[in-house]
Amino acid sequence: MLRTHTCGELTRKDETREVTLCGWTHSRRDHGGIIFIDLRDRYGLTQAVFDPHHNQETHAKAEKLKREDCIKVTGKVRYRGKGLENHNLPTGDIEIIVDELDILNSAETPPIEIDDRKEASEELRLKYRYLDLRRPIMQKHLMARHQVMKACRELLDSLGFMEIETPMLVRSTPEGARDYLVPSPFHLGKVYSLPQSPQIYKQLLMVSGLDKYYQIARCMRAEDSRADRQPEFTQIDIEMSFVDEEDVYIVGEKLFAHIMKQVKGIEIKTPFPRMSYADSLAKYGCDKPDLRFSLEHADVSEIVHKSDFAVFKSAVDKGGIVKGINAKGAGKTFSRTEIDAYIAFAQSLGAAGLAWMKMAEHGLESSITKFFNEQTQKQLIAKMQAKPGDLLFFCAGEEKLVHNTMWKVRLKLGEDLNLVNKDEFYFCWINQFPLFEWNADEEKWEAMHHIFTMPRDEDMKYLEENPGRVRGKLYDLVLNGIELCSGSIRINRPEIKERVMKVIGMTLEEAQNKFGFLINAFKYGAPPHGGFAPGLDRFVMLIEKLDNIRDVIAFPKNKNKESPMDGCPSDWSAKDLKENYLKLDLAKK
Ligand code: AMO
Repeated sequence: MLRTHTCGELTRKDETREVTLCGWTHSRRDHGGIIFIDLRDRYGLTQAVFDPHHNQETHAKAEKLKREDCIKVTGKVRYRGKGLENHNLPTGDIEIIVDELDILNSAETPPIEIDDRKEASEELRLKYRYLDLRRPIMQKHLMARHQVMKACRELLDSLGFMEIETPMLVRSTPEGARDYLVPSPFHLGKVYSLPQSPQIYKQLLMVSGLDKYYQIARCMRAEDSRADRQPEFTQIDIEMSFVDEEDVYIVGEKLFAHIMKQVKGIEIKTPFPRMSYADSLAKYGCDKPDLRFSLEHADVSEIVHKSDFAVFKSAVDKGGIVKGINAKGAGKTFSRTEIDAYIAFAQSLGAAGLAWMKMAEHGLESSITKFFNEQTQKQLIAKMQAKPGDLLFFCAGEEKLVHNTMWKVRLKLGEDLNLVNKDEFYFCWINQFPLFEWNADEEKWEAMHHIFTMPRDEDMKYLEENPGRVRGKLYDLVLNGIELCSGSIRINRPEIKERVMKVIGMTLEEAQNKFGFLINAFKYGAPPHGGFAPGLDRFVMLIEKLDNIRDVIAFPKNKNKESPMDGCPSDWSAKDLKENYLKLDLAKK
């Protein structure tokens, strides 16, 4: 090693020791002819002192040092002196009085500052990612990611899981996004898909008898960008044989309790709460509720249908719903402008608006209360559990739109009313999802997760007559309002698979075409099995309290799915096209 220590470890107990440190010149100060350099590496900062009275030659050399030069210094550790300590640094009591300076490599002026307090634009940060990753905060996020992966491997290994890699050049996998395709230079006109997940392969491993599998798996999906999505991301992919839902929950709970303890030192209580999809939708308007605060929705359709308020009445008459939320105490604190901002917010989500009422000492107050007789008002107050000082918001309309609007209104209220404890980690399983979703555009049923999900035993009887009523052995793990993972118990018996395929209108021939190899494999005694796959990037983003997934990925893509650093995706050369049997005339047009 070129160094004897790192820049983060020397303290007063090392006084008088001769040491060699390597790193980058983080900052430089000149005081009374003496040069002070903060030397930085992954582990911290150490002050290096170049004093002409101590060593004139080294001091002269140090005069040329610039930010981000890569250097090596040798010298003695000494106490900085009373009142000169920097209590913000672990190495803040000491400094190195330098005898030898070696400039390992000088640096041009960096295009972005290596300073956590001065963040450059994201595009510049991504263009010079190798410099952005020099920032301590970015290294901290990557360290958290490493620790999560390590803890994950420890726990799963202790439970008898085997880490098995699955291929990257695959037959298309059915996760619902579009595939990234790779033309084969060896097969005229043929393509490989990049895996959207190892789903099919992990199920095949169960057929092989490898009954506890996991993989820290790279997945690629061509889908819309979002703050918590990347085209290329990582899953902690898990599959088990001879299990039912309960067994999967236990492994998931052990996994996250262990990771949280190891990485964050936080004890997470298990079992995690469980909530059915139907309850989650009713109370929070979504399938990924943030349960760090309450503010549940109430369905007031029946009550307000008896009122004279045409907006509410007609919404219910048309088969829609009316939902209310009680913004506790906001009746006293929200101004009219703030209320109007909520109305505009709801409208931006597609709702016609938000109605509101304030709960005063003597009852409800609002321009619309006149449409509600005393008895209806009483029922409303009871249903909304309204107390003086509360503000009630209502949204009426088509069910999906109302749920979606009130989901987001609740989240906004959580933030605005300061109800969210940012230090809390609230895990919850959402289960009993419907197996199918109705696609109104194409007028057909579609699998809500994927077509390998087992229907719940008690709903099997509705498969043919009422597919909308069939719930699947399907679950999501939600953390602080973000979907962390999905999973299911899979169908392992061909006759059930055929019944499900019939519902979504897939012929045996189509199925054979798409994943015939899986269907065939299942003919050889496929065991009952199931699993789940937490998104690693999303999880690290949450425990690092970030709202941008790119900050926990070393080399992510930007919002346009490009990498400004290496300029990918890049153009095809004529040679590439030829070797891949491709013509791009269509794209050019
Ligand atoms: P699913 O598609 O729900 O399930 O994905 C599982 C988890 O992966 C993460 N995730 C993503 N993270 C970042 N960027 C993306 N584009 C992205 N897409 C998904 C999320 C999500 O909850 N094979 C099934 C799992 C199973 O059934 O075992 C699957 O992939 O955290």
